[in-house]
Formats: sequence, structure tokens, C-alpha cells
Amino acid sequence: MVPSETLQYVGIVQLLLHFSWKWVGLIAMDNQAGEHFLRTMEQMLSENGICSAFTKRAPVKNQANTVAELIPTFYSNSSFLLDTQVKVIVVYGETSTIVWVATGIWLTSLSGGSEYLEQSSSWKVWIITAQIDFSLIDFQKSWNMGIFHGALSFTLHTDKVPGFQTFANIRKPSWAKEDGFIKYFWESVFDCVFLSADMQTETGKICTGEETLESVPATVFELRMTGHSYSVYNAVHALARALQNMHSSTPSKKVMANEDGLASLQVKPWQLHSFLQRIAFNNSAGDEISLNDHGELAGGFDITNVVTFPNNSYVRIKIGMLDPHSPPGKELTIHEDTIEWHKNLTQVR
Ligand SMILES: *[C@@H]1O[C@H](CO)[C@@H](O)[C@H](O)[C@H]1NC(C)=O
Ligand SMILES: *[C@@H]1O[C@H](CO)[C@@H](O)[C@H](O)[C@H]1NC(C)=O
Repeated sequence: MVPSETLQYVGIVQLLLHFSWKWVGLIAMDNQAGEHFLRTMEQMLSENGICSAFTKRAPVKNQANTVAELIPTFYSNSSFLLDTQVKVIVVYGETSTIVWVATGIWLTSLSGGSEYLEQSSSWKVWIITAQIDFSLIDFQKSWNMGIFHGALSFTLHTDKVPGFQTFANIRKPSWAKEDGFIKYFWESVFDCVFLSADMQTETGKICTGEETLESVPATVFELRMTGHSYSVYNAVHALARALQNMHSSTPSKKVMANEDGLASLQVKPWQLHSFLQRIAFNNSAGDEISLNDHGELAGGFDITNVVTFPNNSYVRIKIGMLDPHSPPGKELTIHEDTIEWHKNLTQVR
């Protein structure tokens, strides 16, 4: 339920051309998807007269889980951050990729002293692809988001789903009967523990269960529906509708209730394909959800500007979009005057 990745590549090139950025660095995760990205991008960049200043491969998550493990991968590798000629760096990967980058900046600022952070010429415009999510609970609470102020981020299209914010706001761990996840989530988000009978000693903060998600910064939990969540939301609805369509077009005998009282369909998963392929509906946010001939969501990407605050929270402001239905070469729309750049960036072009 996500748009085609090719569209995102096209968008990156159009964004670079829009600002006449001709000398850019590329960072990709060190796996097959990352290699595919580097190969495709390098070709597309050279076809458009843009040079890649460097390419870096960031370890993927299972190779480097903690900051301590990331440090050695960076020491021999971080000088590119100090290259003042490169103003623009495109980051492709997963959340761990941006964690690797942030760790690198942090290490560089340690060894280079405050000078590095002050030096305006070393500031970059970060262009971040859609698979990267800033909301990483464990790491970012202590991380200075300010380094990504002004970043331009491709995000999966999202929309306001009526009632979602209220729903997220009023969830409490005491509702946990059918939710095996919320207690762990709560402890992690609010840095607290729930008292339990078998607990020996009380250490740290105790969760009251009355904490509110509204009070946590977006780096910990985004209250609006993220593009990732919106895709999952649409996928669940598409599947439910496909099942319903199949059910109404086949004799009712095929649905039987099992012991749990849950309906179990006596069908093979592949029998659902043709129903899924033909799916087209308007979701509760008013977006039309349909799949193209390749089974991909016929939707686009939003382009957002990351605006950070001193309290380490941030918002993403939509400043443009990538529309697959536009004529080739015209997919990107961007509202340049609404973009907030990093304050140390004196000249954008
Ligand atoms: C952080 O600061 C911004 C801007 O002042 C404010 O809108 C936001 O509510 C604050 N977030 C938190 C979690 O305090
Ligand atoms: C979705 O809504 C639009 C505008 O109201 C309408 O034209 C379109 O036919 C609807 N699509 C479906 C699949 O119901």
C-alpha cells in the first residue's frame, strides 16, 4: 500500500534540479536495496548533470543496534561531514540509517569541538527518503533534533483520519485487556515502570497510567497519523473490503465460525488477489484508495520540511508533493517560500 519507489527517485532528481544543487552526497543503507538506490541514483544524477560528491554505506539495523556499536563504523568514515563543498546530502534507508548519520554528527562535533556546530559552512540540507522515520523511541529522547532542522523529507502521503487523534489521546494502559503491547509502549514512551506483584524493588519512576501522549515530543510519538500508519490503515481497510467483496460474491457456506467465535474463511490466500486488485474506495479521510496495474498504490508522496523546536520536538510541514498523475517531468510541486532552512545556512542555492 505504498507508492512506487521509482517515483521517489524521480522526485529527488527534480528537487535537486529545482534548487540547482549540482554537487550532492549520497548515503544509503548497506544492503541490496541501498545498492539499488545508489546505482539508480548515480545514473539518474549523471543524466541530469548532477555530480555525486561521495557515496557512503551505513550499516543496517541488525549489524549495528546501539550507538556504541555504531561508533567504530564511523571513526574512519566521517570526514565527509566536514566537506564544506557538499551542501546537500540525500539519505536513503531506514531509521537506523539516520541514527548512524546523527551519531556521526555527534562524534564529529565531539572531536571538532563546538567549532563544528557553529561553522556555518559545514551545515547541510538533508534530503530524507520516505522509509526513514524520526520517531525512534529509545534513541531520540536525548538526541539533539536541531541538526535536522530544515531537512526536506519525502513522506508517504497521509491525511487527517477523523477521530484518530482523539482515539490516540484517550488510550490508557488500563484498557489493556486485548492489547498486549500498550504497557510496554507506555513504559518506553514515559520512561517509567508499572508496579507489579512480583517486583522486588522499586527503581525509577512509577507509571501512573494517567500520563498523556499529548505531552510527549514528536520525536517520541507523533500524535498525527504518520504516512506509515496511514498506509497500514489503508491496507487493513482494503483487505477488509476485499474479504467482504469475496464473501458477498460467494455462497455463504464458505464462512464458518471457529471456537473463538471468529469467522474463519475457508479460502486460500491467493483467492483474494483478484478482489484486492479491483479494490477502489474512498477512505474516511476522503482519499480514493486504488491500486495500479502493478498492484501498487496509485498515490504519491508528500514533501515535508522538518521544523524543530528548542524542546527537541518537531513538526513536519507539508511544502510540496509528488503526483504520479502529472505529466513526466512535472511530478514535483514545491512551495519554496514556505520552507524553513537551517539558520546556519546562509545561501540555499
Ligand atoms: C515544544 O515547543 C513547541 C513550540 O514552542 C510547542 O508547540 C510544543 O507543544 C512543545 N512540545 C512539547 C512536547 O512540549
Ligand atoms: C470518491 O469520491 C469522489 C468525490 O466525491 C467520487 O467522485 C468518486 O467516485 C469516489 N470513488 C469511489 C471509488 O467511491
